[in-house]
Amino acid sequence: MIKTRKKLIEVALPLVAINEASAKEKSIRHGHPSTLHLWWARRPLATARAVIFSQMVDDPSSLPEQFPTKEEQDKERQRLFDLIEDLVKWENTTNEVVLEKARKEIWKSWRVACDDNRDHPQAEELFNPEKLPAFHDPFAGGGALPLEAQRLGLESYASDLNPVAVLINKAMIEIPPKFAGQPPVNPEASSNPDLYGRKWKGAEGLAEDVRYYGNWMRDEAEKRIGHLYPKIRITEEITRNRSDLLPYLNRELEIIAWIWVRTVKSPNPVYCNQYVPLASTFILSNKKGKEVYVKPVIEGDRYSFVVKKGVPHNLEEVGSGTKLLGANFKCLISGSPISADYLKEEGKTGGLNARLMAVIAKGDKGRVYLSPLHNHEMVIHKAKPDWLPEGDVPKRLTGGTCVPYGLTKWENLFSSRQLVALTTFSDILRQVEERIHKDAVANNSNDSHNIIDNETNSVTEYSNAVNTYLAIAINKTADRNSTICTWDNTRDSIRNTFGRQAIPMTWDYAESNPFSGSTGSIINACAQICRFLVTSPSQGDNRAFQADAQTQSKSRNKVVSTDPPYYDNIGYADLSDFFYVWLRVSLKPIYPELLATLAVPKNEELVAAAYRHGGKGPAEEFFLDGMTQAMHRLADQAQMAYPVTIYYAFKQSERKGNSGTASTGWETFLEAVIQAGFSICGTWPMRTELKNRMISAGTNALASSIVLVCRKQKLDSQTVTRRDFVSTLKIELPKAITQLQVGNIAPVDLAQSSIGPGMSIFTRYSKILEADDSTMTVRTALQLINEVLDDYLSEREGAFDSDTRFATTWFENHKYESDAYGEAEVLANARNVSVQGIVEAGVIQAMAGKVRLLKRSELPDGWDPAKDTRLTVWEATQHLIKRQTEHGETAAADLLTRLGSTANQARDLAYRLYQICERKGWAEEARAYNGLVIAWPELEKLTSKRKSSGEDELTLEFDS
Ligand SMILES: C[S@@+](CC[C@H](N)C(=O)[O-])C[C@H]1O[C@@H](n2cnc3c(N)ncnc32)[C@H](O)[C@@H]1O
Repeated sequence: MIKTRKKLIEVALPLVAINEASAKEKSIRHGHPSTLHLWWARRPLATARAVIFSQMVDDPSSLPEQFPTKEEQDKERQRLFDLIEDLVKWENTTNEVVLEKARKEIWKSWRVACDDNRDHPQAEELFNPEKLPAFHDPFAGGGALPLEAQRLGLESYASDLNPVAVLINKAMIEIPPKFAGQPPVNPEASSNPDLYGRKWKGAEGLAEDVRYYGNWMRDEAEKRIGHLYPKIRITEEITRNRSDLLPYLNRELEIIAWIWVRTVKSPNPVYCNQYVPLASTFILSNKKGKEVYVKPVIEGDRYSFVVKKGVPHNLEEVGSGTKLLGANFKCLISGSPISADYLKEEGKTGGLNARLMAVIAKGDKGRVYLSPLHNHEMVIHKAKPDWLPEGDVPKRLTGGTCVPYGLTKWENLFSSRQLVALTTFSDILRQVEERIHKDAVANNSNDSHNIIDNETNSVTEYSNAVNTYLAIAINKTADRNSTICTWDNTRDSIRNTFGRQAIPMTWDYAESNPFSGSTGSIINACAQICRFLVTSPSQGDNRAFQADAQTQSKSRNKVVSTDPPYYDNIGYADLSDFFYVWLRVSLKPIYPELLATLAVPKNEELVAAAYRHGGKGPAEEFFLDGMTQAMHRLADQAQMAYPVTIYYAFKQSERKGNSGTASTGWETFLEAVIQAGFSICGTWPMRTELKNRMISAGTNALASSIVLVCRKQKLDSQTVTRRDFVSTLKIELPKAITQLQVGNIAPVDLAQSSIGPGMSIFTRYSKILEADDSTMTVRTALQLINEVLDDYLSEREGAFDSDTRFATTWFENHKYESDAYGEAEVLANARNVSVQGIVEAGVIQAMAGKVRLLKRSELPDGWDPAKDTRLTVWEATQHLIKRQTEHGETAAADLLTRLGSTANQARDLAYRLYQICERKGWAEEARAYNGLVIAWPELEKLTSKRKSSGEDELTLEFDS
């Protein structure tokens, strides 16, 4: 038997700080690993880091020999929380001081585990105090979790079924450490005295070579196909009606993008030989003061496009191009409708063409928008690709596909010029290996650099590594160079192919210039990769490999944190074929096994795709069986000193009724986890939404995922009855909820977080028998857990003063609406107070036979509890929110100081009122109570500052 200690994640987490850091991270691009290569549904690094840390560090309550009292445990837990708050910040991603502190804590707990288990028969293998267990994520995807494990000092293993994901993980965790500290081999660096002999930290040398050979690849490609990407000379004719272009007269400008519009033969018989534009908009730039649009000029049965500056008088019309509703358009010349069905028919028979609508060049201070030029339109016909990506575009995708319009093959998603560019880069990639060999050998003979050619790292391995990043750069360029990329007229830039998890039909598209230095260029792609490389952790002997999670055997004795696919949300394999076809042509000689198949393997992908499995029922069955298998592998293999953490995306829209958790996807998943032999001991809602959206009631914005904390179920588990289960829940759950509240759990997260301790009781037993001897289902258990939470929160109401209890019940029934005085009287009498008294307390208003609660906006400004002769918790809570929203946190903290010990009751009431609002769907009101609790730690900090400066607090006396 292995002796285990409870880890922090099994008890408490500073969720608000983690969620805030995760939300902030969303807006970070520079150097963020997500910019290495696109992957769908990436987890924020902050969340991944905090979760792995907290699953490896002991909770102080499990170290009674060090922290015997509750106070000492709370203090120590707070110390760990403070460390996590630092650890999750993006700016600390490369802060070795902070990271080292975290690593030390992980080691400390590991040594405790080793000491606890020194008599274990396999102690030598399982509990070596000098070697931390390695980490494994069997659903690694974009690699956030393995990367963070690596950062925390663990040897990291990443596997995925999908070869594209495997390559991303190789680039992320496996390759950089192999060449850590090694200088670049390129001749530019070795001949530069400033670079010669400098210290190359981590993967800086590798990054420098990716930059150099990326540039070389670009230059070589330009020599071959640069003529397909002409610059634009600003002639007098061009400036004729465009005085803004005069400063550029006779200058050659580099093109950033060509804006094309798809065309179709007009369905109007009179113009049936004319291809008319399918423009979703004619607006090119919406930026205030810099507006630009396209004006179609119709002459007889012909038309041309002229680019104009300024706001058009018919803005709405111009804004909608020739588009009507949905995928319906109108003929530019005749106005006849063009139906979506007509477009589908024409598309299938090759009847869609394209016409140049505008050209966007790089000016001195931003974009220069120009009317299309004949030679720029014609040049594309010279582009003749000698290789075409094979394979079919998925016919069905949750977010939509362009297949119905005839774009059925991957090759159809690119213009001939884009195909030529991408294949040219791929071709040149093969020569990079030769060059690196030459350069490395020249370096070695110069003896100016470390010799790469040793037993572990051959020059071939190094050139393979550089090529892997360059192939990724080609993929990034492909993402910005397909005809699915549109022009974003609000930001003046090109959108990528996968703005969402779909391959939608586009009508007008932007073709970028891969030789420019702007978005969509190969240089830009390389630069993003280099920015990642220079900050990558680059340590450890890490591995990324292909494996089916249902059968893998790599988790043995490893720490596991993983993020499996969520039911049918994303068809990773279908989507990633877009990238796979390019990776395969570039890298098959380097990774012959990984890239052996023509397309990404799909059959074993654990996604409940009805179209793959012959209907919804079989798809659900496939998912449940496969996920149970995959979870089994984890329950059987993972290092038992640690819990396993599993992410599960949770769709708020699936909520039903009051239980808050009734959803097929959620229950199916919990079922799979439990069937696999896990017991669940924690559930943490992790959000990535921004703070102002952190609210659930009536909205879809609650959790982006739930982290389940699991331990292997003990074999001696007993069978109990429903009654036994409910009574254990009633005893144990309130303690766990109190603990969550002590950790300042946001009200919005309380219900989800209570599932963990509740399910831990449920999964403690091998079976729970209902009255009819049937086994209790997960759904029933979730409902019972929720009922106990409800009871707990309502019972706490009993501790409030009578006026507050009156107000809470009134609020639940009427919110701020008025109702009959008589009704209020009955309610007040039951609480042994009078309506008049509650009016005097400043809680309600009674007028003309009606009673209603005072809204926060009606409460007096500058309220001072010391002068209030009938103080209530209700007022305290409402005034705190009022102060906080109207005057900020310092003012609210002033009030908190004056409320003294009653402040905590105000916070309790906020939880209770939030729960009422959530149930009723009062999103706006719920936000207020959630916001107060979230701000609480900050208010307390400000309050303690005040106290130390000598401000008095007030003790409230209640009349009942
Ligand atoms: C939610 S994603 C992981 C995302 C990742 N945590 C990140 O931050 O980027 C789920 C992954 O599971 C992979 N997957 C699906 N079926 C699988 C299977 N049978 N075995 C291994 N991986 C599988 C998908 O390819 C996908 O990359």
